[in-house]
Amino acid sequence: MKIVHAASELFPFVKTGGLADAAAALSQSLARQGNPVAVFLPGYRAVLEHPRVREKARKAITLGIEMDDQFHHGEVLEVGLEKNLTLYLVCRDEFFDRRHPYGVGGRDYEDNGERFLFFAKAVVEALSQLRLKADIVHCHDWQTAMIPLLLRYEERRRSAVLAGRTLLTIHNLAFQGIFPMRLFPLTNLPEELRGMDGLEYYGQINYLKAGILFSDSVTTVSPTYGKEILTPEFGCGLEGVLKTRKEDLFCQVNGIDTGLWNPADDPHLPAAYGPEDLSGKSRCQEKLLKQTGLKPKGKGPVYGMICRFTPQKGLELIRANGGFFAKRDCRLVVLGSGGEEDERWFKELAAAHPGKISVNTGMNEALSHLIEAGADFFLMPSTFEPCGLNQMYSMRYGTVPLVSRVGGLADTVTDIGRDPEEGTGILFPPTAEGLAEGLSRSLDLYADRPAMERAIRNGMSRDLSWDNAAAAYLRHYESLL
Ligand code: ADP
Ligand code: GLC
Repeated sequence: MKIVHAASELFPFVKTGGLADAAAALSQSLARQGNPVAVFLPGYRAVLEHPRVREKARKAITLGIEMDDQFHHGEVLEVGLEKNLTLYLVCRDEFFDRRHPYGVGGRDYEDNGERFLFFAKAVVEALSQLRLKADIVHCHDWQTAMIPLLLRYEERRRSAVLAGRTLLTIHNLAFQGIFPMRLFPLTNLPEELRGMDGLEYYGQINYLKAGILFSDSVTTVSPTYGKEILTPEFGCGLEGVLKTRKEDLFCQVNGIDTGLWNPADDPHLPAAYGPEDLSGKSRCQEKLLKQTGLKPKGKGPVYGMICRFTPQKGLELIRANGGFFAKRDCRLVVLGSGGEEDERWFKELAAAHPGKISVNTGMNEALSHLIEAGADFFLMPSTFEPCGLNQMYSMRYGTVPLVSRVGGLADTVTDIGRDPEEGTGILFPPTAEGLAEGLSRSLDLYADRPAMERAIRNGMSRDLSWDNAAAAYLRHYESLL
């Protein structure tokens, strides 16, 4: 089956969060199962500077993209990544020659509406010029959500078939791509699509809404999140639109790339380990504590946390429980980036408790692996979590997840209280009191070594690989054809 993916992030070329990991691992897994896969990505500066791209990129086509009454020029570069897997980079310096994909200093670029509309139109144009004849065009999040509608409209205009079925995966409903109505003419879509039955959303235009309404299939990244987004509490104002697709909403938990995330063979770690012999994990902890300036000895556990600094990740809950990390016999190491206010708060907390709390900012792939390996517990008190990858990375690294009972966290972690034999972690309600109770349970578990080791081994022996998830997507693709 010929498959096209379109995404705004792709590991290892550009990443702000789990979307990059998921898009990369899914496309790779589908390619390795024998399907020709093409992935479209904006040609951001960091991507063009990546050694694999610099070495191999060649120009595939030039673009003249109509936006209202102007034509914007650009080009598509082609990079062969591996057998069956080709990367296409949509380039136009005005839009993508920037360091960050979406904005700087916590503020989005003002022309994101134009940038990702150009990207979506460029993908449609490339499908035509490159004659990819894709059976499936799989789009991810708002940045690519206009593609299904633009594709069908283009087919009508040209009386031609450009691709088979279209899919939109919602990785995070909190980001929708909402822009002023004055951008509507740039779509060159007919006027009838301007209104409520089309792009309009409270007087503005909403790209994600267009994707939900006009793709052949809407999917999301865990069954619990799939139910949550139909409610006002989690639906971010689109629950009504989503309900129109309720019957065919396909929910599939992401996998993880077990090649990149493998404690038995991880170049970022000082020692290898596996479920049979955890001694290497202690060496990873020693290195983590040394590198982050934390006390090497202590009776209590080491908590790790890696996230974008945004309300979704439950930072308010951590703030409310700051006293726990300050007073109890434990250490906390945080790696995060984003929200300046949160960064400041965390840094102040760390400064007030040297040797106990370490806060590291910026994107740091190597440190993220070391935290996964060196911590005893991985903290994810998210207020909502479509899937979440870190709790899966931590189970694979023998680090017990301490997570709120929402979305994909509820679907991937089994509470040791509910199932002492098979449990892999600790779940709690997404509130400050919930986290307090979860933290207190984690101290009890840590003190009970046999129970702790059982949870560690249960997590490490879970099959979290993409193979099953990719096979489920393939079956779903087939059902649409
Ligand atoms: P989300 O996509 O909502 O941010 P996920 O758990 O799905 O959450 O994925 C987050 C991904 O981003 C993980 O691979 C995580 O390790 C990574 N990550 C987040 N912050 C950082 C950081 N500061 N440095 C390195 N990796 C990070
Ligand atoms: C989003 C979600 C996260 C999910 C990731 C990959 O960034 O916030 O929960 O794991 O996408 O699907």
